[in-house]
Amino acid sequence: MIIFKTVSQLHQYIQQQKLSGLGVGFVPTMGALHTGHISLVKQSKSACDITVCSIFVNPTQFNDSKDFEKYPIAIEQDIYMLEMAKCDVLFLPNVDEVYPRNFDQNKQYDLGFIETVFEGAYRPGHFNGVCMVVERLLNIITPNKLFLGQKDYQQCIVLKKLIEIMNVDIDVIICPTSREENGLAMSSRNRRLSDDAKEKATIIYNSFNKIKEKISITNSVELIEDTKQFFYKNGFDSIDYLNFANAETLEPIELWDGTTPLVILTAAFIEGVRLIDNMVLR
Ligand code: PAF
Repeated sequence: MIIFKTVSQLHQYIQQQKLSGLGVGFVPTMGALHTGHISLVKQSKSACDITVCSIFVNPTQFNDSKDFEKYPIAIEQDIYMLEMAKCDVLFLPNVDEVYPRNFDQNKQYDLGFIETVFEGAYRPGHFNGVCMVVERLLNIITPNKLFLGQKDYQQCIVLKKLIEIMNVDIDVIICPTSREENGLAMSSRNRRLSDDAKEKATIIYNSFNKIKEKISITNSVELIEDTKQFFYKNGFDSIDYLNFANAETLEPIELWDGTTPLVILTAAFIEGVRLIDNMVLR
């Protein structure tokens, strides 16, 4: 694996590969890698000639500076995991490479409705920061395919919109959420949970599966209320949201009409750690 720390060297390398007709797959990350990230790398490797993974903890997407400071860093282990997965290139820039002095950090993206709900509502400015860094990375790496995890469901929709706004020809490949054996969605934040909380947090996935079996046009409100109570009884401290939504537009749905494509999404705290998860139901 080649590690690039500067934009100019990486850019030059990629352009050479593209001139030789090679297709580039890109997996953006903030490090503290787990099996979920590695599965994105593997999917990119199976679909593209060259796979580039980036590790950059992007300050502009943290609306809470404490969250940024607490973000886990595990660079040695990350490099080892990427080597094992035979990732071709790691881009490991510092903040000045990504945001040089002349970079406009006030740029605003018109994301519309999607930015006003769920993560957008609870983390103001978050998606603007995500778009800022991903636009920059896409311009540097110029990939043919971008690999994203379904765990960040709303981020996937936002980044599809960014690609539309940028008007570039990049395929977005959404890969299924990787889970622990007990169903807990893999996340870098899981490292901050005790074993007990990791076990309790499996109720998110278990509840979603039960809801998938039971959902009908008469019980959507009741299912949400019961599941919230179940979360609280099982050790969750608070719930930012637990909702159904239109799976394409993310418009929240209370009373499901039986035909609208449906996703359930949650963000909930256990041991002070904010976990997110989702499941497409119909
Ligand atoms: O999902 C993430 O880890 C980040 O939001 C991303 C896409 C790498 C941008 O910083």
